[in-house]
Amino acid sequence: MFRLALLGCFATANAYLWPNPALDQVETILYEILPGTTGIASFVQPCDTFTGTGGTTSGRSNAADWIRTAYHDMATHNVTAGTGGLDASIRFAEEQARAENAGDGFSNTLTVLAGFSTRYVSVADTLALGTVIAVEECGGPQIPYRAGRVDATEANLPGVPQPQDPLQSHIATFAREGFTQTEMISLVACGHTFGGVTHSAFPTIAPALTDPLNTQSVAHFDTTNVHFDNNVATEYISGITQNPLVVGSNDTTNSDKRIFGSDGNVTMQSFANSPDLFASTCATLLARMLDTVPSGVELSDVITPMPVKPTTPIFTLDGDVLKFTGRVRFWNLTANANRVVLLLWDDHHGGVRNSTLLSSLKSSTTYPYGVATSFIFGNSSDAGLSLDAAAGIKTMRFSVDGELQDQGGVGFAVQDGFAFSTTSCFFGNNATAQYDVAVRVLCFYSLAVLTQCRSATA
Ligand code: HEM
Ligand SMILES: *[C@@H]1O[C@H](CO)[C@@H](O)[C@H](O)[C@H]1NC(C)=O
Ligand SMILES: *[C@@H]1O[C@H](CO)[C@@H](O)[C@H](O)[C@H]1NC(C)=O
Ligand SMILES: *[C@@H]1O[C@H](CO)[C@@H](O)[C@H](O)[C@H]1NC(C)=O
Ligand SMILES: *[C@@H]1O[C@H](CO)[C@@H](O)[C@H](O)[C@H]1NC(C)=O
Ligand SMILES: *[C@@H]1O[C@H](CO)[C@@H](O)[C@H](O)[C@H]1NC(C)=O
Ligand SMILES: *[C@@H]1O[C@H](CO)[C@@H](O)[C@H](O)[C@H]1NC(C)=O
Ligand SMILES: *[C@@H]1O[C@H](CO)[C@@H](O)[C@H](O)[C@H]1NC(C)=O
Repeated sequence: MFRLALLGCFATANAYLWPNPALDQVETILYEILPGTTGIASFVQPCDTFTGTGGTTSGRSNAADWIRTAYHDMATHNVTAGTGGLDASIRFAEEQARAENAGDGFSNTLTVLAGFSTRYVSVADTLALGTVIAVEECGGPQIPYRAGRVDATEANLPGVPQPQDPLQSHIATFAREGFTQTEMISLVACGHTFGGVTHSAFPTIAPALTDPLNTQSVAHFDTTNVHFDNNVATEYISGITQNPLVVGSNDTTNSDKRIFGSDGNVTMQSFANSPDLFASTCATLLARMLDTVPSGVELSDVITPMPVKPTTPIFTLDGDVLKFTGRVRFWNLTANANRVVLLLWDDHHGGVRNSTLLSSLKSSTTYPYGVATSFIFGNSSDAGLSLDAAAGIKTMRFSVDGELQDQGGVGFAVQDGFAFSTTSCFFGNNATAQYDVAVRVLCFYSLAVLTQCRSATA
C-alpha cells in the first residue's frame, strides 16, 4: 500500500509540487522577468549595464563579469577528487587575491548577485542564476537551470587557467575540471563572446586607451561584446579579430589563439558556419559548467515554468470573516475570449466550494519563454475572497474552461493556520507597525493581540 501511494506521488507531470518555497522562489527569479523589474535581470538590462567604476562608459559590463566569475569559481574543480566547483568560494579574499583571479570583476559580481541570496538560494546559486540570466537576456540561448548549490566555507585550492600557460597545461586544466579539449575550445568561445581584457588587471595585454566610452581601457574579444553571438568565431576565422588573447603583441599570452587553433580550427570553423550550433553548444556547456559542484551536492531537476502557480496567498481575519487574497498564474494558456476560471476549494468542514475568478481581472504578460496569465482571487484587485473563518480553506483546485488543474489529484494545499488580524495597525509611512496574528486552533481562530494599538513614540 505504502509503495503504491509513494508511486502515485511521483506520477505527476510537474517537476515538483506546489507549495515548495525554495523552488517557487527560484521559478519566480527565472521566469518572471519583465523590462524594468527589480530582479537579477534588471542589472543586465540593457546589456551594457555596469554597476562598477565608470558605469556604461567603462567598456565593461555586469554580464561579462558575472559569466567570468562563474567560470573562475568553478575552475578549481577536481573531477577525480570531487573537490571545488561552483560553490561561491570566489567570495573569499584569499581566492580573489590570487594572480589567477586578477581584477575587480569578482567583487563587482558579488556586490550585486550575493544580495539575491536567501535562505533558499545560496550565493553559489545566485552566481549560476546570474550567468543564465545574463546569457538569456543578452541574445543567448535558454540555459537549463538546476538549483541547490552549497556555499563553500573556505577557499578552494588554486587552479584557474592563465593566459601565459602553455596549451598542454590548458588541456590538462580543463580535463581536471571535467571537460575535453573540444569542450575547452567551445567553452572558452562561449565565455569570450562577452567582455574583454581590462588594462588595469592585465596591463601588458590590454594597452591604455583614451576613449571616453571605454574609460577602463577594455580590449574586447569581439565587436559585439555585450551580446551573445558567434562573432567571436566569425571574426577569428575571417582573420579580422581584435581579440587581445589572439592578436596580442606578446604571443606568450595569446591563449585563445593556441586554444582556438588546437584542433586545426575545426570547432571554431563550425561555430563560424552556424550561429545555431554555437548557441546550442554553449547552452549545453554553460549548463554543465554551472552544474559542476563538489561531490555530495545534489542539484534539483531543471526548473521549468510551473503550468499553474498560486502566488502570495494571504489571510486576514476580520471578525468571523477570513479574507483570502492572492493570485494564480497560468503558463502559456491559449487565447480564449470567453475564458472561465474557477477556484474550487475544500474547507475544514468537508465542504466543497467554488468562486469564479472574473476574466476582467486577468493580467497577461509575455516573459522570455512564454506567456503568463494571472487571475486575482475575488473580483477586485485586493478585496480577496470572503470565507467563513470557521470553515477556512484546506486545498485549492482550479478549473480553466472546464478543465481541472489539480497537480494530478494532489491539489494545492493552503496553510490557513495563521492569519493577520484587521486589529493590526500601522503608523505613518515607515515600517512601524503592530501585527496582530490569529492562530487557527481546531476549527476557530484564537487571536493573539500582544500589544495595544498605539503610536511607537507614545
Ligand atoms: C584557458 C582558459 C581561459 C583563459 C586563459 C581566460 C583568460 C581571460 C582573461 C585574461 C580575461 C580578462 C579579464 C579581465 O581583464 O578582467 C578574461 C575575461 C573573460 N573571460 Fe576568460 N579565460 C579563459 C576561459 C574562460 C571561460 C571558460 C569563460 C566562461 C565560459 C570565460 C569568460 C570570460 C569572460 C566573460 C570575460 C570578460 C570579463 C569582463 O569583460 O569583465 N573565460 N578571460
Ligand atoms: C585531483 O585529485 C586527484 C585525486 O585526489 C589527485 O590525484 C590529483 O592530483 C588532483 N589533480 C590536481 C591537478 O590537483
Ligand atoms: C610576454 O609575456 C610573458 C608572460 O607574461 C612575459 O614573461 C614576457 O616577458 C613577455 N615578453 C615580452 C617581450 O614582453
Ligand atoms: C585558424 O584560423 C586563423 C584565421 O583564419 C588562421 O590565422 C590560423 O592560422 C588558423 N589556425 C590553424 C591551426 O589552422
Ligand atoms: C460552484 O458552486 C455552486 C454553488 O455552490 C454549485 O452549484 C456549482 O455546481 C459549483 N460549480 C462547480 C464547477 O463545482
Ligand atoms: C510557451 O509558449 C512559447 C511560445 O509562445 C514557447 O516557445 C514555449 O516553449 C512554451 N513554454 C512552455 C513551458 O510550454
Ligand atoms: C464581487 O464579490 C462580492 C462578494 O465578495 C459579491 O457580492 C459581488 O456580487 C461580486 N461582484 C461580481 C460582479 O461578481
Ligand atoms: C516612524 O513613524 C512614527 C510615527 O509617524 C514616528 O514617530 C517614528 O519616529 C518613525 N520612526 C522612524 C525610524 O522613522
